[in-house]
Amino acid sequence: MRRGRIGGYRPAAASRRRWILGAVILGICAIGSGCGSSEETEKDSMRIGVSLYRGDDTFINNIRQELETCAKEYEQETGIKVHLDVEEAKGNQYTQNNQVERFIALDCDVLCINPVDRTAASAVIDKAMAGNVPVVFFNRQPVEEDMNRWDELYYVAVSAKESAVLQGQIVVDSYREDPSLLDSDGDGVISYVLLEGESSHQDSLIRTEWSIQTLKDAGVPIERITGGIANWERSQASALMEQWLAQYPDTIELVICNNDDMALGAIDAMERAGVSGIQVVGIDGTTPGLRAVESGKMMGTVSSDKEAYAQAIFTIAADKAMGKDVAEDIELENGKYYNCPQEIVR
Ligand code: GAL
Repeated sequence: MRRGRIGGYRPAAASRRRWILGAVILGICAIGSGCGSSEETEKDSMRIGVSLYRGDDTFINNIRQELETCAKEYEQETGIKVHLDVEEAKGNQYTQNNQVERFIALDCDVLCINPVDRTAASAVIDKAMAGNVPVVFFNRQPVEEDMNRWDELYYVAVSAKESAVLQGQIVVDSYREDPSLLDSDGDGVISYVLLEGESSHQDSLIRTEWSIQTLKDAGVPIERITGGIANWERSQASALMEQWLAQYPDTIELVICNNDDMALGAIDAMERAGVSGIQVVGIDGTTPGLRAVESGKMMGTVSSDKEAYAQAIFTIAADKAMGKDVAEDIELENGKYYNCPQEIVR
């Protein structure tokens, strides 16, 4: 597999050093007598409430695992106990709102919320503001108007435009290296189908638009056969691809997918139908996605740095919980946005 990294900021090392420093200060305070007046330095535990829009989403699960690792490492390095309470909202905003209420009732220091409905984040924000609990949103972006309601709101994600441009670049590079890999019938045009994520997700439209635009800008000849929404899901993508393979036999040369799970669904359908030679590109670099690239089933993916992603969420959350200045540990755009680095894997 080849990798080409974009974006370079990794908060991990810097913030870890600070955690250690924090732990040393705590230790000195515990031994000495002169610094017992500050509540912040005496705190020896924190409680973080995490709500995921769905627990069965592969990418979100990758982030969850990394978040749990961050919490464990932080505990080991600082001696500060981290209670990480992770809930799944099962695609229901009402359920998520109840989880937020419960977290606040449990005295969580900070909330990390992957909103079910990004346009309904205001209800979460109302509750957080009333309880004075900062919120780190991630992956599903609340509208700007909501994000501007309070200076204790943060957002961590991956730039959708950058993911799409890199995805387009995978196809451009492959085409330039060997046009026949993509234009298998040799008619001078790459015939493609598109698998899109949820229509309500900000990333779906942006990824689709910029992936195609990148191919056009590079002068790669393309022709869209059809496309459909498979809501990020492998099984839905598989069903759509099965239908298209039957409807357009010997026509499809490329499947452009808004994420890896849908790419894997398309590959499932191709395997079931006994079809080979169609190239598939994804986005995310999930564990199964990277495996598919390695085995040659997927032409390539755009892999976000899950460790840096989770580390950014955790660093903001831990700093908020410990009453520390977030800006000292992580560089944020407009004081509240963090975009995680990503790279091409092919
Ligand atoms: C996207 C990701 C998808 C899915 C979705 C959920 O950013 O690429 O795989 O996880 O978020 O909101």
